[in-house]
Amino acid sequence: TLKQKVQLLEDNLEYFPDFPKEGILYSEMFKILRTPELFSMLLDLMVDTAKEFDPKPDVIVGIDSKGFLFGPLIALELKLPFVPIRKRGKLPGKVISASYELEYGTDTMEMQEGSIQEGQNAVLVDDCLATGGTLECASELVKAMGGNLLGCLVVTEKYELDGYKKLNCIVKSIMKVK
Ligand code: PRP
Ligand code: MG
Repeated sequence: TLKQKVQLLEDNLEYFPDFPKEGILYSEMFKILRTPELFSMLLDLMVDTAKEFDPKPDVIVGIDSKGFLFGPLIALELKLPFVPIRKRGKLPGKVISASYELEYGTDTMEMQEGSIQEGQNAVLVDDCLATGGTLECASELVKAMGGNLLGCLVVTEKYELDGYKKLNCIVKSIMKVK
């Protein structure tokens, strides 16, 4: 069943206390990626979840860098375009930028002009939702491009941080983690 699959995936998350800094419990999903049956199960769940959006997405937008582990696979499975949002200075040509807060200072993400079309239904994909700063910034970019943001899809959501509250859209996650 779905519940058993999610449980199996949860059992294969690995937790690292005090990473990347004191007080943060880091949940890591690379053990799932190292295990093809689990990776495939996770991908199937993500694809099924992406299909739940109504209206249907026209484009999958993935976030640099760990969003790139999942976004392109989902896009390909759905036969949809994949579009990257990258951290600053990595994309050539004309880009639009948006900034987000880090614990110390800010960072900037960019999207290539014309990479999504006015009115296209977009779903944002990332590995995890924590404070929501990253997806909030990515949402701004999608909207600035004229995209219609259907929502965000992540593998893990740190439920204690309530990051979804920052996002004015539907958030779908495969696993809720501490
Ligand atoms: C991590 C993670 C998410 C983001 C979530 O990215 O991959 O993108 O933090 O945190 P937030 O909800 O508080 O914004 P990070 O920029 O650390 O590195 P990455 O390049 O490895 O994806
Ligand atoms: Mg990231």
